Amino acid sequence: MENDPAILRRTFFEKMGIGTLGAVAAGAIAQRALAAETKKEWKQTSDRKIRIGVVGGGFGCGFQWHNHPNCTVEAVSDLQPAKCDRLKKVYRCEKSYESLEKLILDPKIEAVAVFTDAPSHGRHCVDVMNHGKHCVCAVPAAFTLEDIQKLKEIKEKTGLRYMMAESSSYHSDLYNMKLIYEHGGFGKIIYSEGEYYHYNVDTAWGYKEWRNALPPMFYPTHSTAYYIGVTRGRYTAVSCLGFRGKAERYSNNSYKNPFSDETALFTTSEGGMARMNVCWGIQGAHGEIGRVFGELGSMVGNTFRAGKGIQTAYEGIGDKKTTQLADHRPALPPAMSAGGPGGSAGQITDEFVMSGIEGREPLVDVYEAIAMTAPGIVAHQSALKHGEQLKIPQYDPPKLAKTG
Ligand SMILES: NC(=O)c1ccc[n+]([C@@H]2O[C@H](COP(=O)([O-])OP(=O)(O)OC[C@H]3O[C@@H](n4cnc5c(N)ncnc54)[C@H](O)[C@@H]3O)[C@@H](O)[C@H]2O)c1
Repeated sequence: MENDPAILRRTFFEKMGIGTLGAVAAGAIAQRALAAETKKEWKQTSDRKIRIGVVGGGFGCGFQWHNHPNCTVEAVSDLQPAKCDRLKKVYRCEKSYESLEKLILDPKIEAVAVFTDAPSHGRHCVDVMNHGKHCVCAVPAAFTLEDIQKLKEIKEKTGLRYMMAESSSYHSDLYNMKLIYEHGGFGKIIYSEGEYYHYNVDTAWGYKEWRNALPPMFYPTHSTAYYIGVTRGRYTAVSCLGFRGKAERYSNNSYKNPFSDETALFTTSEGGMARMNVCWGIQGAHGEIGRVFGELGSMVGNTFRAGKGIQTAYEGIGDKKTTQLADHRPALPPAMSAGGPGGSAGQITDEFVMSGIEGREPLVDVYEAIAMTAPGIVAHQSALKHGEQLKIPQYDPPKLAKTG
């Protein structure tokens, strides 16, 4: 009874405060829901500045910590002097340390931005929080379930803030999906898709070549966000298949990984299905894209072709056409700009700083970060077992736990 579409539709329209079904198309209502959320201007509410240390002079140079009115870069670090110099220049900061391990001893530093190699994220974040500092970290949260467990434990032991700098979550298409979902515009998500393509089977790169034959599903968050980041739901089980990479590196690598491309089918805590791709071997394919199909409406994101801007299209019950949606992400401080993949860097910077100023958890907190990361680790295990369906362990505290 509670899933009767007529009742779901009525509930949605009532929630929106709009008459009866038929008079107004869901697309118009979705737009009204989005407009209600849009902040036109960023307003400074505090003079406090969070003193941050930034580690990792590659991707870690793409944020705007120094331009945020509530943040100051206290020190930077990279093991490689040239990359450390780059950090100093980008963030206009004179103080540097030779390693993250040294930087976290600085009592002036309150929070650390960890943009080191992905295999080290788990260890580095636990180390940062063990030294009493808040932490924002690049994706993914960790590479092993053991590290995931340690991350959860240190978060719960210290109560310090942890945020994963998940870029798809701050693409305007996914952000719109999230707002529409929260306003009831999809009902339950029956089926979703997320895809991340990054052709790189010809090269081994990254610190200590950590990207050499990297199991695709060890890097799942740009795809998995297209369900978790929209709904804050959970994946409960997975069956995954892999494509055997032709390059020599897939026969001999430290991960013992034969796959350049993986496709996972997850069951969700709403009782739905989610199909997520991570592919390194498809030449010419680059970027992230997602789609969600709900009981009341569906939406297609379009961030796939870099340079064409982000367009999102919602189609809901009662609509006779597809509605193109504008960008409804929060306004940024005037000195900052979007930047980074899909315009996510400014948003990530602002969200971490403001969660500290406002004393709240960030959007992609430790539980959301784990929910986007751990299922990928299990998915890769499934691919190694020819698609055997495996249960996904859950890490939420009892009050947040969602069952299938
Ligand atoms: N869209 C996205 O969200 C996105 C895009 C690119 C990269 N990333 C993530 O960002 C992270 C960094 O990416 P990258 O391409 O620059 O990686 P990278 O491997 O090229 O760089 C990592 C850097 O960390 C430094 N480092 C490692 N251990 C250190 C320590 N103990 N102390 C100080 N410095 C240390 C290394 O010297 C290296 O310069 C990766 O985890 C990657 O997954 C995310």
